[in-house]
Amino acid sequence: MHPVADEPHPPNTVNSTGPRLGIIGGGQLARMTAISAQQLGCEVVVLENNHHSPAAAFASRSVVGDWQTMEALLELASQVDMITLENEFVDAAHLAQLESAGHTVLPNSRTMALVQDKFTQKKTLESAGLPIPKVRATANQDELLAAIEEFGLPVVLKTRRNGYDGKGNATIRNLDEVDSAWQQLGGHRGNPLFVEEFCPFSAELAVIITRGRDGEAAIYPVVETVQENHICHLVRAPAQVSSEISARAADIARRAVESVNAVGSFGVEMFLTAGGEILINELAPRVHNSGHYTIEACACSQFENHIRAVLGLPLGSTRMVAPAAAMVNLLGTAPASGRANGFAEALAVPDAHVHLYGKALSEQGRKMGHVTALGKTLADAEQAAIRCAKNIHFGTLS
Ligand SMILES: Nc1ncnc2c1ncn2[C@@H]1O[C@H](COP(=O)(O)OP(=O)(O)O)[C@@H](O)[C@H]1O
Ligand SMILES: [Mg+2]
Repeated sequence: MHPVADEPHPPNTVNSTGPRLGIIGGGQLARMTAISAQQLGCEVVVLENNHHSPAAAFASRSVVGDWQTMEALLELASQVDMITLENEFVDAAHLAQLESAGHTVLPNSRTMALVQDKFTQKKTLESAGLPIPKVRATANQDELLAAIEEFGLPVVLKTRRNGYDGKGNATIRNLDEVDSAWQQLGGHRGNPLFVEEFCPFSAELAVIITRGRDGEAAIYPVVETVQENHICHLVRAPAQVSSEISARAADIARRAVESVNAVGSFGVEMFLTAGGEILINELAPRVHNSGHYTIEACACSQFENHIRAVLGLPLGSTRMVAPAAAMVNLLGTAPASGRANGFAEALAVPDAHVHLYGKALSEQGRKMGHVTALGKTLADAEQAAIRCAKNIHFGTLS
């Protein structure tokens, strides 16, 4: 056996010779995607508005620019063989221009056009025969009042585009709140809104599906998500529901991603009602917070499968490698430095895995990292994840 150090280094061992993958956006989803892409030999380039994004540390380089401009998108495109996205906010018309210029974007611009406007998305799902809550586009407050009359209170007013972590939503519980909800979401400025019936769910379910270029689908276990203040707090895998409900949720999710001709990993969020009805809440055309547990808990993670899908490679197994897993998000609580205190105590918890996203600053509700714990039972996994996560706090500015 030769010591590795004695091996002559052929030229180019530093630069990857694999496909060059561009990721629009440099947040934690791009970071975890980049890690998998590197593992599969890709050269990764991220597009973000600074050099220090969470994904930059795992990319060969960053293109610094505004992904809302064609200029930045074309610069990224000129450096890579194909492009994928970490968010649903990039204008589909811009993505179509990239495609017209001969670049490959996956998921493609048609899929993004159907998904990035939540009202269009819901109507697309409805046309495919899939169950959704009652929704109505509202051009003005009179139309909103008419929908409230029909649906009954409460209702949830939502921005058609650019909502995340509940930031594009306002629940209206009585008629006095109509005007403030309308103002809060920018209705008076012409920001397009729609209204949705309130779903008194007994649980929220989610499924990650990775769909290949050939339409083959890898379906992950159905999980339960728990939101606090509209932000994902906890994911329980698998969801503790009957096998009939779990099979129905997986089937609805598969048909949902097919209806928009998805390629790559998609998250499908659903409401389960007390009567056992399943309604689709929303589709995310990207890797999703409810699938972070797949890094440790599944044979092939949602991130690796995303890369496999966009590269046209065989998809990996979605099988869980432990009986149960739980994921807890690490959120900032105030404007502070991004430094994690209590890290050592957190790492002392067995079977828990800590992920930090490398963000320089924390803010209230900002996703700074997550913890996944595996267990023989869901209760074990959940206890370990919570025990681990509660040690970690992000430092205050001083
Ligand atoms: N129609 C609804 N009825 C009840 N709760 C809802 C409704 N819509 C959204 N929510 C709650 O708000 C959370 C965030 O809303 P969602 O529409 O998924 O927006 P976001 O893009 O911010 O995730 C949901 O996970 C759910 O807990
Ligand atoms: Mg959501």
